[in-house]
Amino acid sequence: MSFEGVRDDGFSTLAARFWHPVARAVDVAPGQVTMATLLDRDLVVWRDHQGMAHVVDDLCSHRGTRLSAGDVADDGCVRCPYHGWRFDGGGTCTQIPQLGTSRPIPRQADVIAFRTSEHAGLIWTCLVGEDEELRPRPTWDVTEAGTHWLHVGATYDWDAQVFRQVENFCDVAHFSVLHVDTFGNADLQEMDAIHVDVSDDGWHLSFDYPYASFNPSDGSGPFDMVFEYRLELPFTVALTGASGPGSVMCIAPSPMSADRTRLFWVCAFPLGTDVDADEYEEIERRIWEPDRAIVGGQRPDRLPLDLLEELHLPFDRLAVAYRRGLAALGFTVPGARRVDGAPAPGPRG
Ligand SMILES: [Fe+2]
Repeated sequence: MSFEGVRDDGFSTLAARFWHPVARAVDVAPGQVTMATLLDRDLVVWRDHQGMAHVVDDLCSHRGTRLSAGDVADDGCVRCPYHGWRFDGGGTCTQIPQLGTSRPIPRQADVIAFRTSEHAGLIWTCLVGEDEELRPRPTWDVTEAGTHWLHVGATYDWDAQVFRQVENFCDVAHFSVLHVDTFGNADLQEMDAIHVDVSDDGWHLSFDYPYASFNPSDGSGPFDMVFEYRLELPFTVALTGASGPGSVMCIAPSPMSADRTRLFWVCAFPLGTDVDADEYEEIERRIWEPDRAIVGGQRPDRLPLDLLEELHLPFDRLAVAYRRGLAALGFTVPGARRVDGAPAPGPRG
């Protein structure tokens, strides 16, 4: 596919070859329409009356209207609010009211549709076809195991690059500084090296981090916990243990653009775990907010993938492995702007 008209420095072209969430399933009820932005591309997300979710360009082929301002017709197609043109989930224009029922619909009226999938309470899409996809949609097995129930968190928009957000989520060295008003333990600022395992195929980075954290809801503790991180390149992380024993918090920050990120996150709790959803949301908000403020101010905006560009100490090994992995995937270092849409070069050296 082409990204004509999309501001692109290689990041969008490469990031488009992965699956990303574009909406929470709960926010798109049958017959409901919403809008999303993924990699500078405006999308309309809707659910037909049978419950199937669809994603196409948020742009009527007729007069450039936002289809997301329309509705879902009785046949499950999204309907443009301006002239009533209908489009099905494959992007096919199925009705132009002004042509009546006997005249053919020109195929130029069709819009671009994207593959769509639901997993873990999120609606995911991929902007390229199967042949260009670099990786299947991430799957968090715990959400489908029947052993856990799912809390689908409120989304947060960050003025930050998606890689900066992922790295922040995995940066355990800041807990005892930035998060001391919630779970962080100010007495544990000194740290040993982190040992990161890289899977044989290179897609997964994992490490365990024992940490005596406080209970953010009542300040009790500290309690000896083990935070188990499993990052799947390039965009998703599952963190076991941070929201209580057996819990798995899964994050999927979605790049609205190269420098703006919508954080989708869900937490799987073991069946029988009693959680006050509102209280839990408020706690997580108090944890995410300082992160959002800090990460939004990091410079350069783009994560430096040249390891010489920032200082890395032994407790930063996840960051080192992550940056190496991104570079190996072909994401470029900042400043290496490409305008030809060609695949980005590999790591330096
Ligand atoms: Fe944080």
